[in-house]
Amino acid sequence: MNTIVKTKGLTKQYGNVLAVDHVDLEVFEGEIFGLLGPNGAGKTTTIRMLTGQTKPTSGTATVANHDIIHEPIKAKRQIGVVPDVSNIYDEMSAWDNLIFAAQLYSVPKTEREKRAKDLLELFELYERRKDRVAGFSRGMKRRVTIAAALIHKPKLLFLDEPTSGLDVQSSRTIRSLTKELNDDGVTIFLTTHYIEEADQLCQRVAIINKGRIVTVDSPEKLKASMEERQVIEVSFSPSTNLDKLKGLSCVNNVSRLGDKCRLHVTDASEAVSSLVDFAKKNNLKIISINTLKPSLEDAFVKLTGLSSEVLTVEKEPAKKKV
Ligand SMILES: Nc1ncnc2c1ncn2[C@@H]1O[C@H](COP(=O)(O)OP(=O)(O)OP(=O)(O)O)[C@@H](O)[C@H]1O
Ligand SMILES: [Mg+2]
Repeated sequence: MNTIVKTKGLTKQYGNVLAVDHVDLEVFEGEIFGLLGPNGAGKTTTIRMLTGQTKPTSGTATVANHDIIHEPIKAKRQIGVVPDVSNIYDEMSAWDNLIFAAQLYSVPKTEREKRAKDLLELFELYERRKDRVAGFSRGMKRRVTIAAALIHKPKLLFLDEPTSGLDVQSSRTIRSLTKELNDDGVTIFLTTHYIEEADQLCQRVAIINKGRIVTVDSPEKLKASMEERQVIEVSFSPSTNLDKLKGLSCVNNVSRLGDKCRLHVTDASEAVSSLVDFAKKNNLKIISINTLKPSLEDAFVKLTGLSSEVLTVEKEPAKKKV
């Protein structure tokens, strides 16, 4: 795997605030890499350093094999940046914004129009290309911003909170576009404070808190590291005494939740078979049984010691929150 971003001891101090504190990260070509953390964790500052918008106080980084301090221009040619605050021009049309971005990035004149057309089509904005961006919805504006960041065909795209402030539908569109771009070979470095976004999009996630990287791993491995905290909810007919369940293998803790018993277990599959045996032996019928998988949210809470409320958990009516 080729490395596309590598940081070593990357640090940014603003007065007394250590915004980014000795960050070591490595991002591989072809992946969607996420920086997940609460407000003020240092996500934007990290992106700003990597994209040459602010100088590190100390430490080094390479982006697409170019040192960000010594070869910032070369690094910039290889990357697209979608900042947290929109950088497109409201008074200009979508089309003019893209052509303008193409000029800024010195895209050859002969290619500008074709690229603008291709991108606007991909982002489903071609029909509206002549309209001023001022009249666009937030989701549409975000799409124009991303399209503009892609005009010079960067191999690495930085997205700072790509879906923040968007409604559920627009967020979905942006996420599926992000996946499409990645399928086409663009490496994505994104920041987010949405746990689901990190879970759904990223191959690897770095959790950042107070400027420090707490851990880096795939969402699945982060969740697996929580396996010892699996929970099973079971209800019997007739109901049974909780104490009897405590003695079963793998069961650490038992509590009652309405008509259900909630068991904290170390090994869910073993616990399920001992519950089935238990029911048979005691002439009980199992009315329902559910294993609740640990979520990325659980991993976040355990690793940072923070409440998950510092992150935004998207409220989607169709999704059951565990
Ligand atoms: N230009 C600046 N001047 C002074 N302090 C700053 C500046 N930019 C960021 N900070 C401070 O650095 C810390 C990290 O900020 P940063 O914007 O990187 O966090 P973030 O993770 O992007 O947060 P959010 O989720 O709110 O976007 C914060 O304490 C912030 O107040
Ligand atoms: Mg930010």
